[in-house]
Amino acid sequence: MTKEYIIRRATKEDAEQYTKLNNLVWRQAYKNIFDNTVFDKRESADSVSNSIDYFIKQTKNSNEFCYVVERQGQIIGQMTGAYLSHIEHYSQRNFAELMAIYIHPDYQHIGIGKELLNIFKSEIQAKNISHFVIGVLEENYPARQAYEKWGGVLDNYNNTFANKKVIYYAYTVK
Ligand SMILES: CC(C)(COP(=O)(O)OP(=O)(O)OC[C@H]1O[C@@H](n2cnc3c(N)ncnc32)[C@H](O)[C@@H]1OP(=O)(O)O)[C@@H](O)C(=O)NCCC(=O)NCCS
Repeated sequence: MTKEYIIRRATKEDAEQYTKLNNLVWRQAYKNIFDNTVFDKRESADSVSNSIDYFIKQTKNSNEFCYVVERQGQIIGQMTGAYLSHIEHYSQRNFAELMAIYIHPDYQHIGIGKELLNIFKSEIQAKNISHFVIGVLEENYPARQAYEKWGGVLDNYNNTFANKKVIYYAYTVK
């Protein structure tokens, strides 16, 4: 595909589309991990409204940065990072965190994720941060494959999210 998209910093005006894309990718990526009630709940009016508020706060938070991929006025990808991880195990060691990376199913596997990863790296390098972490549901094998391809090293630390095991890939920026 010719490059018909741009990657830019997110603004609060992106909140609605950002949340919509997030929910759409969740349904696809986690279809074998969560049951439908989880997706239905996330898509309820209350939950969408909370997600929109949360996103707007993120765009104002100086520890976080958020980028979107825009194609013909539609958001088809998103990435959120934090200069200092929210996970104590990593923040104690001054790790940054790639908090979220989601690409619309029609645009996965064409290199957009890697581009977002490189933007994330530039952001943290500009602050002299050399290590970061990505958390992923243990059962999210396609994303894990991408993280391994991107040079992530499975770390000896785990956590849980919605009763599922979350594992972590640690990276050193080169
Ligand atoms: C995981 C994700 C962010 C990767 O982004 P992407 O734009 O699709 O990945 P890229 O095109 O940059 O691919 C980078 C490499 O990762 C690997 N890869 C990416 N997606 C893969 C998949 N679904 N299965 C196997 N390998 C995959 C490929 O080897 C690829 O390298 P190649 O193109 O040289 O073969 C994206 O597929 C996505 O949004 N997935 C659904 C949501 C999700 O799981 N997000 C992560 C939550 S922790």
